[in-house]
Amino acid sequence: MVRHGKIAADIGTDHAYLPAWLVLNGICPTALACDLRKGPLDNAKKTVDCYGVGDKITLRLSDGFDKIDPTEADDFIMCGMGGTLMTELVARTDWLKDTEKLLILQPQSHAEDIRDFLIRNGFEILTEDACTDSGKLYCAFSARWCGEAKEYSDGYIYYGKLPECKKAEAKQYLIKTADRLKTKLEAEKNHGSAEKADYLSRIISETEEKINEMQPDC
Ligand SMILES: C[S@@+](CC[C@H](N)C(=O)[O-])C[C@H]1O[C@@H](n2cnc3c(N)ncnc32)[C@H](O)[C@@H]1O
Repeated sequence: MVRHGKIAADIGTDHAYLPAWLVLNGICPTALACDLRKGPLDNAKKTVDCYGVGDKITLRLSDGFDKIDPTEADDFIMCGMGGTLMTELVARTDWLKDTEKLLILQPQSHAEDIRDFLIRNGFEILTEDACTDSGKLYCAFSARWCGEAKEYSDGYIYYGKLPECKKAEAKQYLIKTADRLKTKLEAEKNHGSAEKADYLSRIISETEEKINEMQPDC
């Protein structure tokens, strides 16, 4: 999802594998590898030295986007963090409200939180993808400021644009999401509120409808 020729900033980079891959493969001329802590940035330095890309990758200690100047990068990546933390970091960075900037997000959990924040605050999701790694399912999506909080149905924050992704992994990811929601629904039915249970039932039906509309072989 990172655009060819653009400068990427990887927030929460840890080993800087992604920025190294992006510059080594000629996708980005340069990149920023940013992390909150020194330990991960030391790991990042080892990767940068190992691949000889020190002239192309800037290492930066930064809490989220706080120590990044908006002019320094075009595409901003956050992978492997929870959706709730991503939401906090994006919410306090007003300069991301720019149609030229692209967010590329791979929430490790609570993907619905960050989708919800984005669509309520004038961002739109452009594309979503899913994959498996070591038997685990992951989703990732790109989003951009459009300045308009559009109308979406309640379930959208749980499935986003994954129904448009023609991959078996996207379907599996959504089946897992629906299963997770069903577990929540059972808990809500047993000890929670009828209103919340009703809401969950509606979004489960909506998500299952989307799953059923996906190609049988995907
Ligand atoms: C699980 S690792 C993910 C590493 C890599 N992005 C990946 O997907 O493999 C999460 C990283 O995010 C960093 N991190 C956590 N909170 C952060 C924050 N507020 N700002 C920047 N980095 C943060 C952690 O130090 C850690 O290196």
